[in-house]
Amino acid sequence: MGNKKRVSSYHSEEQTLACLPAPSEDEVAHSKLLIDFIVAEIEQHGGVISFRDFMDYLLYQPGLGYYSAGQTKFGGAGDFVTAPEISKLFGRTLARQCESIFEQGCVRQVLEFGAGSGRLCQQLLPGLVEPCAYFILELSADLRSRQQQYLRASLPLELFSRVTWLDELPMDFDGMVIGNEVLDAMPVHIVSKDQQWLELGVGFDGKRFCWSHYADNSDAISAIQRIESAQLILPNGYTSEVNLNYGPWLDALQACCNSAVVLMIDYGYQQAEYYHPERSHGTLICHYHHRVHSDPLVYPGLQDVTASVDFDAFADAASRCNFEICGLSTQAQFLLGNGLLDEADCADPNKHTRAQLDLAQQIKTLTLPSEMGERFKVIGLQKNLNIDIPALNTDR
Ligand SMILES: C[S@@+](CC[C@H](N)C(=O)[O-])C[C@H]1O[C@@H](n2cnc3c(N)ncnc32)[C@H](O)[C@@H]1O
Repeated sequence: MGNKKRVSSYHSEEQTLACLPAPSEDEVAHSKLLIDFIVAEIEQHGGVISFRDFMDYLLYQPGLGYYSAGQTKFGGAGDFVTAPEISKLFGRTLARQCESIFEQGCVRQVLEFGAGSGRLCQQLLPGLVEPCAYFILELSADLRSRQQQYLRASLPLELFSRVTWLDELPMDFDGMVIGNEVLDAMPVHIVSKDQQWLELGVGFDGKRFCWSHYADNSDAISAIQRIESAQLILPNGYTSEVNLNYGPWLDALQACCNSAVVLMIDYGYQQAEYYHPERSHGTLICHYHHRVHSDPLVYPGLQDVTASVDFDAFADAASRCNFEICGLSTQAQFLLGNGLLDEADCADPNKHTRAQLDLAQQIKTLTLPSEMGERFKVIGLQKNLNIDIPALNTDR
């Protein structure tokens, strides 16, 4: 996600809300439906649910969750921008990487997870030397229908006919799997240290959602204990997230692939940086009308809630699922290594000054360390292939 205003993490709920634009009456009514649903779940579960379940409802509850309901999320009119929304150079450069992978023997097909507005597909498919089958697996019925509308209107019919929306993972897939900002949208558990680790959940105090003790002994606690024993001892009061989805997601993916290269692009860190003692409030953030804050309990269903990716945990889970790790690099290194600047030259052959300035700005946003260049990373995996991806192996 690109530029945004940051609202401090240390605000009370009232202070957070005072910094955010007020929702419309319709939005408040929509949010109330989701609140009622979650409150009923909390009551049914004895007064508290895990944060993981809470986040799952916030984002994916059919018809109500942030990604499942009908408001605009991406771009200037939404809540945040992602790389394909910033520049078509992103998808075009990724197409160059796909071509190199196809030339080395990967079957010419693409499976995209979580296609958002459809922009990445719209950029990538025409950038390939030969058109190929393009599958999209999207959890949100609303986004799926937006993607269909957008791609029908923006792709030539011949290319649009190559796109198929899947309801579930395909059987015996051979080809490339891609996902931009999908892993950060998977629900996380929250753990906190108070002499010993405990897991935080969410309750309801009659007026609003509130943090509540959830468990003293859980898979999330075991995971943070393993991380702590491999890293530094973390201080009391330390609160962070654990993403337990990587293993099951990769296991399901490897079971459906005969041969594949997987490229996942997202913001995140390796463990020493993710669980650094100074990152004592974790990485959970919310996006609401291009404001960033850290209170996931407000505006249920109206704001995006996301946590950075733990790339070490993802790579460990991939190895356990018998994927080979092809490499990890920053988004800047990956895009520049795949000819981002050549792609920019081709994008405006007439060299109009205005277009050149726009492209220069887009390149900066995608690659500068202070923008998306370093916080965003690309991790590559492969199964039953022997593909070389130099842009992921940045020490060469
Ligand atoms: C932050 S958005 C990114 C959208 C788009 N890839 C982009 O870059 O603009 C996250 C997307 O991931 C989807 N998503 C999350 N978990 C998923 C999963 N397990 N399978 C498929 N899609 C998923 C969401 O529905 C949403 O479309």
